[in-house]
Amino acid sequence: MNIKSDNRPIGVYDSGLGGLSVWRELHAKLPNESLTYLADGANCPYGGRPKEEIRRFADEAVGKLIADGAKMVVVACNTATAAAIDFLREKYSDTPIVGMEPAVKPAAMATRSGVVGVLATAGSLGGDLFLKTSARYADRTRFIAAVGEGFVEIVEQSQENTSEAEIVVRRVVEPLIEEGADQIVLGCTHYPFLRKVIERVIGDREVAIIDPAPAVARRVEQLLDQFELRADTNNKAQYAFQTFASDDYLKRLQDKALEIISR
Ligand code: DGL
Repeated sequence: MNIKSDNRPIGVYDSGLGGLSVWRELHAKLPNESLTYLADGANCPYGGRPKEEIRRFADEAVGKLIADGAKMVVVACNTATAAAIDFLREKYSDTPIVGMEPAVKPAAMATRSGVVGVLATAGSLGGDLFLKTSARYADRTRFIAAVGEGFVEIVEQSQENTSEAEIVVRRVVEPLIEEGADQIVLGCTHYPFLRKVIERVIGDREVAIIDPAPAVARRVEQLLDQFELRADTNNKAQYAFQTFASDDYLKRLQDKALEIISR
């Protein structure tokens, strides 16, 4: 049997640097796949913006990735997914588009206290996607939603290792644990870069952190197979980076990606 292959890149898009938490997973799990990462950067953060505006940004970014030859696009941004995924799938119907799902299901399955904290942006928490998915498990789980106020800015400015970061994270995470949450869902792709800080706040209490990136990478793999889009097994993957922001921003994006790979 002749299995088709496709060496074009997978496009990965986020408002900024956060989507690199998904890129990291794709890079690790799909070593033959070329990846083109587009960080808007010029309009980040998206979190508190109106849905229509985010949809316009997402349209521009995803349109560019596809025009540049992406065979599939991963919207590595919960906020853009919440605002625009249906619109994008309809407009770019020839290209498979993967979005971010809030990982409320695994959290609802794993919780013993029955309380789950969900950290995300205001845009994601107010969207239908979160409301619908959390309603599905509401009979057995109490979801406490909290906006990670200031988290995106910390990651964008590479301030994860500062004492200010711990103050900002503690202010949001501590009340969730005090309310009894034993699972914390990272519902924004910037937040996994604050994982160590969140772990410090948790300390020796039994609270699990759930990052949806591995599940997204598995979904990408399924779709590559379904649409016969996998790259050749001997394809030498290329990694490209783009932004709508400055050259300085592009440099920070590339440096962060490099740091991830060399870890
Ligand atoms: N990384 C994005 C998300 O997953 C958006 C953060 C922002 O731009 O506010 O929601």
